[in-house]
Amino acid sequence: MKIAILGAGLMGSALGRVWASHGHEILYSYARDMGRLRTLAEATGHGARAVTPREAVSQSDVVLVAVPWRALDELLAQAGPMAGKIVISCMLPMTPDDEELAIGLDTSGAEELARRTEGRVVGAFNTVWSDVIRRHVDAPPAAGEEPTMFYLGDDREAKATVATLIRVAGFAPLDVGDLRQARLLEPFGLLMGRLGAMIDPLVAYRLVQP
Ligand SMILES: NC(=O)c1ccc[n+]([C@@H]2O[C@H](COP(=O)([O-])OP(=O)(O)OC[C@H]3O[C@@H](n4cnc5c(N)ncnc54)[C@H](OP(=O)(O)O)[C@@H]3O)[C@@H](O)[C@H]2O)c1
Repeated sequence: MKIAILGAGLMGSALGRVWASHGHEILYSYARDMGRLRTLAEATGHGARAVTPREAVSQSDVVLVAVPWRALDELLAQAGPMAGKIVISCMLPMTPDDEELAIGLDTSGAEELARRTEGRVVGAFNTVWSDVIRRHVDAPPAAGEEPTMFYLGDDREAKATVATLIRVAGFAPLDVGDLRQARLLEPFGLLMGRLGAMIDPLVAYRLVQP
């Protein structure tokens, strides 16, 4: 798959690396420093490239949006049309000081992204620290020991595609429902972020069924 990564910081670079290591073609984009993006593409290997957001979106099958919530307006202006694309949101819609959720209860980051892009948005990866994903590049979990990754969305085909990308990133995907469930998942993501800070950035979760 060709995957556009919009925002190649902690999350975008970790996911780019793990997906590239499984043969996916990565297009990194959206940085104030293009030199840093090019260095990351070289370090990622497997044909990864640094391009503009518009090039990344237009050439890709899947788009990962991995920017701070406060940068979304600027990103969407640069990225161009995404209608009909499979769009993964790993964002938490945080206030500019990064302390609290800026929206919730009656909408969510994933729903707002779907409304604004008309993309087939799937929410995923926002319930673990990037450290967990980065660790899976060098030390993938043993079969049956993968942490769970909750994901959600309204489009069945988009969710099936994202489930495969969750698996290759070393998680057991668990579909938690439609896009509205992001109103519950995003606060859980913030809680997991706080637990990561309190306990260990490598904490993750696994759903067990007796
Ligand atoms: N980090 C985590 O563990 C984690 C966990 C769960 C969810 N999330 C969510 O994932 C999203 C990405 O988080 P992250 O930690 O990967 O962010 P990050 O490390 O700050 O990365 C943001 C990327 O966007 C680029 N960018 C370009 N223009 C920007 C601008 N005007 N303002 C800010 N960034 C700009 C930055 O590149 P330059 O600096 O080169 O410009 C950087 O590569 C956020 O919505 C966050 O809430 C993160």
